[in-house]
Amino acid sequence: MSNKIIIAIDGFSSCGKSTLAKALAAKLEYVFIDTGAMYRAIALYFLRNGIAFNDTAAIEKAMSNIKLNFQYNTSSQKSDMFLNNENVELLIREMTVSSKVSEVAAIAAVRDFAVAQQQAMGIAKGIVMDGRDIGTVVFPNAELKIFVTADPAIRANRRFLELQATNPNITMQEVAENLQHRDLIDSTREHSPLKQAEDALVLDNSHINREEQFEIALNWAKERIALIN
Ligand code: DC
Repeated sequence: MSNKIIIAIDGFSSCGKSTLAKALAAKLEYVFIDTGAMYRAIALYFLRNGIAFNDTAAIEKAMSNIKLNFQYNTSSQKSDMFLNNENVELLIREMTVSSKVSEVAAIAAVRDFAVAQQQAMGIAKGIVMDGRDIGTVVFPNAELKIFVTADPAIRANRRFLELQATNPNITMQEVAENLQHRDLIDSTREHSPLKQAEDALVLDNSHINREEQFEIALNWAKERIALIN
């Protein structure tokens, strides 16, 4: 029997899910999967190809033309997102994609496509996956589910500092509005809305640092791993 578990990390935008997931995966020697990157790559494809978000036929056709995969980048020591063999890791983080991705992620056909691939990635366990519906829809039987939260003003400030490094013209207001907009769509959409799984452990990181957050989550992971051994 595998002695590895599935760790599902969900929460609102920009509350440090990926940072935590990446650190946990590195420590446990698990695979880290950033599912938001998949929705971002699909949104980029839709924007580039002028796919209307309500055009069901065009969306179905687009899905059959989209190939997503992650490839490990040895210099950044993380996986980059590839869309049809093109490295789109940087492009998918731009505001043009961020401002539309929630609408794309709300489309049922898009979710079915992404969820099927995510579930296949978890067959061998040993993964840390972050997103919005990982503990509720993708892996409802995950051995450890963590729901990460943080105060909205603190999240906006962290995101602003992050984006400012590559985009000095960005304003705090723009960042805060984008976060609010995404939170609203992500948590009120019809298909797989963001919500805390009943059996998730809540990690509020508003007033703790990355290391403290990591220690809490690592202890939870060790407890769950011990249970199956
Ligand atoms: O985590 P992120 O900000 O990169 O996610 C981008 C968008 O994709 C965000 O609006 C929520 C959506 N998303 C989702 O609906 N389900 C997931 N499992 C991951 C992300």
